[in-house]
Amino acid sequence: MTKVIMDCDPGIDDAIALTVLLAHQKQAQLIGVTTVGGNVKLDYVTKNAKKLLTFLGSNAELASGQAKPLVKEIETAGEIHGKTGMDGYDFPKESLNYPLTSNNAVTYMYDRISKSNEKVNIVATAPLTNIALLLKTFPDISEKIEHIYIMGGSTLQGNITLAAEFNAYVDPEAMDIVFNSGLPITLSGLNLTENKAYLTMDEINKIKDLGHVGVMASSILNFYTKAELEKGMTKIPIHDACAVISLLAPDLFTKSTNYSMDVCLTNDQYRGMTYPDRRTDAPIKNSIKVLEDVDRDAFVKYLFDSISSYE
Ligand code: BDR
Ligand code: CA
Repeated sequence: MTKVIMDCDPGIDDAIALTVLLAHQKQAQLIGVTTVGGNVKLDYVTKNAKKLLTFLGSNAELASGQAKPLVKEIETAGEIHGKTGMDGYDFPKESLNYPLTSNNAVTYMYDRISKSNEKVNIVATAPLTNIALLLKTFPDISEKIEHIYIMGGSTLQGNITLAAEFNAYVDPEAMDIVFNSGLPITLSGLNLTENKAYLTMDEINKIKDLGHVGVMASSILNFYTKAELEKGMTKIPIHDACAVISLLAPDLFTKSTNYSMDVCLTNDQYRGMTYPDRRTDAPIKNSIKVLEDVDRDAFVKYLFDSISSYE
């Protein structure tokens, strides 16, 4: 059976991604969740992971990781996800009792992946700080990692700046390390998540009718859509769900290209920009499978079916 560790910063779209993943435990077993500072500070994202794992009835292990990116100070996105990082729904206080491993996420991943009989997949929906540290500190772990499914970067527009996507912008040095690790990577960037795999407001409004998990998902999405609509978006991206669905249902993605991808590490307006080298004679630094299109109707149905499967 496929084994998965999800590294995340919940985060409203991270929450939807985790919800989708946990709906498919017979296909891909979530063995652990690791958290990293990103959308909001580490304490909050870890609390949010506890709330979600309890609410969704999971018994996956939980480890909290790096509070800060490798080089720069953390920048957060509370305006999109709320003060707690997952505003909009009142989870029971008791969910904060969900057990947290005493290991840091990086050591936890090393121990857990090393002792797994099968190779482990990583779904990464946050700045890549934990994953970069794992690969740099314990290089032998690479042979036990099957594939990394990332939400981050873009081949076109940015969102946090003109040029950069949020996860890439917060820790571009980490993304550079992961991109050049030699591991198989599938990338859901903004070119996919914003331009192709979006939900309409009509679709978002139907989520509340998908059972008790639908009510939770719709409540947090109501908060999130307000911020997205204020930014002028009419098509609502559920970015992180794309990374999970690219693992669970890869056939829904109708177009992809393998590119050598670069990450801009300069301290100017291009910091965190990711760009594919499209030259045919370019020196190949890496080969990242960049998802470029999706059967949107099938994608939306998959998301809805996953949420309603809890009842
Ligand atoms: C990414 O940034 C975060 O705000 C979201 O959770 C997602 O991982 C989108 O750019
Ligand atoms: Ca995220």
